[in-house]
Amino acid sequence: MGAPVYLDYNATTPVDPEVLGEMLPFLQTHFGNPSSAYAMGQANKEAINKARQQVAALINATPDEIYFTSCATESNNLAIQGVARANRDKGKHIITSSTEHPAVIQVCKYMESQGFEVSYLPVDAKGLVQPEVLKKAIRKDTVLVSIMLANNEVGTLQPINELAAIARQHKVLFHTDAAQALGKIETDVQQLGVDLLSIAGHKLYAPKGIGALYVKKGTPIKPILFGASQENGLRPGTENVPYMVALGKACEIAGRDYKKNVSAMLSAKERLLNGLKNNLGELIVVNGEAAPTLPNTLNLAFKGIDAHWLAAALSEDVLLATGSACHAHSIEPSAVLKAMNLDAATALSSVRISTGKYTSFDKIDQTIAVIVKNVRRFLVSEI
Ligand SMILES: Cc1ncc(COP(=O)(O)O)c(C=O)c1O
Repeated sequence: MGAPVYLDYNATTPVDPEVLGEMLPFLQTHFGNPSSAYAMGQANKEAINKARQQVAALINATPDEIYFTSCATESNNLAIQGVARANRDKGKHIITSSTEHPAVIQVCKYMESQGFEVSYLPVDAKGLVQPEVLKKAIRKDTVLVSIMLANNEVGTLQPINELAAIARQHKVLFHTDAAQALGKIETDVQQLGVDLLSIAGHKLYAPKGIGALYVKKGTPIKPILFGASQENGLRPGTENVPYMVALGKACEIAGRDYKKNVSAMLSAKERLLNGLKNNLGELIVVNGEAAPTLPNTLNLAFKGIDAHWLAAALSEDVLLATGSACHAHSIEPSAVLKAMNLDAATALSSVRISTGKYTSFDKIDQTIAVIVKNVRRFLVSEI
């Protein structure tokens, strides 16, 4: 059968060959330090400027609102810690949601250890944060709301525009983790009305190790790393020029090929779901189906089947993810599915399948066949 079918694009994406072509010269001949005054350095400064423009263009920001980081985790840390520190005089209350990625939840836990109070908003059964719930949670001392745009496990799209408007009415800053959103849904910081937005390169066909943070002009924020004056003093350290160039190119491609890519991801996802439903019928539950979701993400429960067993049984043919975590003596259901009120049995039988721009119908048909075969094998062995 050859290489397994890769259906875990929410975990990471391969580097687009066009992106690789663009970045390679900066690893080889164009290796100068952008802070050097001579031409070799200044050319790299220009390359960074171009990349910054490309990132800004994808999200409808201006280049001076884009700060390069090493990943979305760092962007989230900078957004949450940086805004909290800069607004200490105003208060020590942060609001987030219970379905955030650990790259937000764990930063909030750290902020609690630093004397901040954090409200973790519940979600409804669809996985959505209700605007009324946010309204009630905002206090006089709230300095930041951080709610993700698109969930990594279920693909749920939060009503960020509405939530950010509520924060704005209360003069509270709003950050969104958009690591899973770029290239999959329209992501326009003006339409969303957010003050800060996190970007991950490796979910967007750029390499791992590059990210960015959008910071709306005038937003009070302090650095969390200290050093020289790169990135306008907000993120010091000699610039990773090849990776910045890569993220810029990836953003340009994501904008250019948006319709084509979304159509490929969505039609692959729909073909997969239809194929599985036709063969397995009631055995499948689509988690979070009632909410708007990413065009590439399916979170499926296979009733009565252990998700870890299924992922392992498929692993030579199809690569997908389970949201549950293995600890020493037990398997913990996914925190996201738990927050959506799924019972433990359904959560433990759930897998995440995420398609990408390279997912062909052939690969989907192979996937349907191998999943159906293994599910039937499991059911027969249980009788
Ligand atoms: C929603 C979300 N936020 C943050 C991250 C962390 O991104 P990075 O690996 O770039 O730090 C991920 C990665 O899975 C994610 O899905």
